[in-house]
Amino acid sequence: MDAIKLRRSIRKYDLSKKVPYDTLVELCKYASYAPTARRQIDKEYIIVDDEKVIEKMKNLPHGSLSYEDCNTYIVMVAKDPKKLYIAGMEPIDLGMAAENVMIKACELGLGTCYLGVYPNEERMKQFNSLFSMKDGDFVFGVIAVGYPLEENKEWDKFDPKTVHHNKY
Ligand SMILES: Cc1cc2nc3c(=O)[nH]c(=O)nc-3n(C[C@H](O)[C@H](O)[C@H](O)COP(=O)(O)O)c2cc1C
Repeated sequence: MDAIKLRRSIRKYDLSKKVPYDTLVELCKYASYAPTARRQIDKEYIIVDDEKVIEKMKNLPHGSLSYEDCNTYIVMVAKDPKKLYIAGMEPIDLGMAAENVMIKACELGLGTCYLGVYPNEERMKQFNSLFSMKDGDFVFGVIAVGYPLEENKEWDKFDPKTVHHNKY
């Protein structure tokens, strides 16, 4: 199974089932295999599976997926850029790590949907407040993880015209 090709943003989940905590930790482990600038440890994770916390997330801004549509989330936390060797690279590191989570989840038969927080200032303010972020660390993005009621199926977005050879 080519999970990279199959992964899709899933917005309908079976709320009667919950992804086991250990599986969610395993997904965070896969995030840590992503490349990081100068090997810096610039991210942490908050596994959210408590409906009281999700209830609070429901009031936060979101895109097409509403927070009540899934019962488990991995919140990607970026460390304060001031604490890093190279500030400014962490959004790239975090983005790559998030993709690892989603591809591994797809391989496990799970569904995911990435919900952007950074760099939207309004979303960052509200998520940072909800999770009482401190010391300059901030919520970067949120990944819904659950048992999909939609299919992870290939959507070929590739346009060969976007590939250039030696010049643009
Ligand atoms: C930075 C970023 C932010 C996103 N934010 C949201 C969001 O807030 N809500 C949502 O439902 N989907 C969100 N998505 C998912 C995109 O809508 C989705 O990836 C896109 O439509 C392509 O579909 P696919 O993931 O099935 O290939 C986001 C994706 C990215 C990369």
